[in-house]
Amino acid sequence: MSLPSASILGVGSYAPSRVLTNTDLEKMVDTTDEWILSRTGIRERRMAAEGEHTSDLALHAARAALNRAGVTPQELDLILVATCTPDMIFPSAACFLQAKLEAVHAGAVDMNAACCGFLYALSAGSQFVRAGSCKKVLVVGAEKLSTIVDWQDRNTCVLFGDAAGAVVLGAGDNPAEGVRSFFLGADGRHSEILRLPGGGSCHPASAETLEKRMHYLQMSGKEVFKLAVTAMQRAAQKALDQAGMTPADIACVIPHQANMRIVSALGDKLGLPEDKIFVNLDRYGNTSAASIPVALDEAVQMGRVKKGDNILMVAFGGGLTWAGSVITL
Ligand code: COA
Repeated sequence: MSLPSASILGVGSYAPSRVLTNTDLEKMVDTTDEWILSRTGIRERRMAAEGEHTSDLALHAARAALNRAGVTPQELDLILVATCTPDMIFPSAACFLQAKLEAVHAGAVDMNAACCGFLYALSAGSQFVRAGSCKKVLVVGAEKLSTIVDWQDRNTCVLFGDAAGAVVLGAGDNPAEGVRSFFLGADGRHSEILRLPGGGSCHPASAETLEKRMHYLQMSGKEVFKLAVTAMQRAAQKALDQAGMTPADIACVIPHQANMRIVSALGDKLGLPEDKIFVNLDRYGNTSAASIPVALDEAVQMGRVKKGDNILMVAFGGGLTWAGSVITL
C-alpha cells in the first residue's frame, strides 16, 4: 500500500493595512527611496497595528486558507506556526492561534527556522500527513518583524515587514500532487551574521541588554548576501532532484522575498527566465517566514499558477538555514 500524498487543500494570506513607504522611511533614518529601491527592490512594506499580534496576523491567513480548503478548524489535527516573532516566548503563537480558531482537536507548536521557517514547517506537516498520523494540518508562516527591527538602524529597518500566509494540508491519493519533495539545511557556524541576541537564555532581558539594543535584529548584510545565493541554489537543486524534476518542469519559482538582487542571481544560477520567478517583495519587503506563503497565495489568486502546476519554493535565513521544496497544486 502506498503512502498518502500531502495535498495542498487551500492557501491564504493576510497583510496588515498600514503601509510604510520608502518615502516614509526617509523621514525616520538617513536613507533615500532611490537607495532602497536600487539595492533591494523594495518600495513599501506593511506594519501591524498596535495590539495586532503575530497570532492575529496568522488568524486572518488561516481563516482564508481554511475557507478555500472547505475545512473547519475543528477538523484540524495539528497547527504548525513558523515564526521568529511569536506573541511571547511561550505559550507558542500556535497555541494562541489554536484558541482563536477554536481548533479544539489540534495539537499546536511553533517552529523557528527564521526565514526558512515556513518550508521547514511545511515539510514537517507533510510528513505527519503522509505517515497517516494527521489527516488535516494547518501550516502558517507569520511574522511581526516590526517589533524586532531597530528603527534607528538604516542598514536593517528598510528591509522588513509584517504579514502571514497559510496552507491547509490534507491526505490525498494522487502521488503526483501536493508536497513532492523537500530539502532542509543549516550551518549554525554562521549564527552571528543574522540574529536577535537579547531576551533568550544567553542574554536575558536586563538594563544592559536594553542599553545595547540587543532586543533588535542584527545583520551583516554583505555576509548574508554572499552565502544566500549559494545556499538557495543548492537547496533548489536538491529539491528538484528529489522530485525527479528539472527547472523545465517548474511552472513558477517562489523564492523567499528578501532582496531583488538575490532573487535575480538565483534565477541566473538556475537558468530560469524572469517570468517564471514570482516576486512581490516590492510591496511587502522581507516578511521572513511569511514571505513564501504570502507569495504562494498571491500567485494562486492572480492565476499565475493553477491546478497541476509544479512550484519550486526556496529560502534562506538566520541560522543560517536554507530549504527547498517542490509542490504540485
Ligand atoms: N540607506 C542609505 N544608505 C545605506 C542604507 C540605507 N538604508 N543602508 C546602508 N547604507 C549604506 C551603508 O552604510 C554603506 O555606507 P558606507 O559605504 O559609507 O559604509 C553603504 O550604504 C553600502 O552598504 P553595503 O552594506 O555595502 O550595501 P549593500 O550593497 O551590501 O546592500 C543590503 C545592503 C543589506 C541591501 C545587502 O547587503 C543585502 O541585501 N544583504 C542581504 C540581506 C538579507 O537579505 N537579509 C535577510 C536574510 S533572510
